[in-house]
Amino acid sequence: MSDRKDPVTLKIILIGDSGVGKSSFMYRYVNHRFTNMYRATIGTDFLSKMITLDGEPISLQIWDTAGTERFQSLGMPLYRGTHCCMLVFDVASSASFCSLDGWRQEFLVQGEPEDPAGFPFVVLGNKTDLSNREVSRRKALQWCKEIGADYFEGSAKEDLDIEKPFLRAAELGLQQY
Ligand code: GTP
Repeated sequence: MSDRKDPVTLKIILIGDSGVGKSSFMYRYVNHRFTNMYRATIGTDFLSKMITLDGEPISLQIWDTAGTERFQSLGMPLYRGTHCCMLVFDVASSASFCSLDGWRQEFLVQGEPEDPAGFPFVVLGNKTDLSNREVSRRKALQWCKEIGADYFEGSAKEDLDIEKPFLRAAELGLQQY
């Protein structure tokens, strides 16, 4: 029997271009709310959520970083100690998908994970409710296969497929703990 009193705390970080919906996805998951109003994240915010994984209580600390370049320097030290990184893009924006490789590289350099080659990433395509989709599921899956990441897509606005990416991030993060 474990004598550990405090639940395991896992740090999950969301990175990606400004406006892809990182804050919205996090708020939808943790607070079950959504707003159409855009408010740029300044620096970082984090929210906590308790979940149960294989019968064990886990405290998820979800960090939302600013996608705006001028705030990026504030977020960089906060990459350290991350257990799983979520790379977020907008399925209606090819540019935001193309940026992901840069975000991933930056995370690996700034976050200094112990095993960069084995560090877990979850890729998340948001805004599947939009009709002007520019990045197909197939294209996203292909890139994820190349980098060895799991792929999920959903909509913070329509409350579609919100839980799965976080649960997977928690599972992968726990393996890093
Ligand atoms: P930064 O803080 O600048 O990095 O942006 P962000 O990635 O956190 O984006 P944010 O969550 O602030 O959302 C940007 C805009 O996209 C807001 O107007 C949201 O309402 C909108 N938005 C977020 N998620 C969705 C979605 O699933 N569908 C649609 N249609 N709009 C969304």
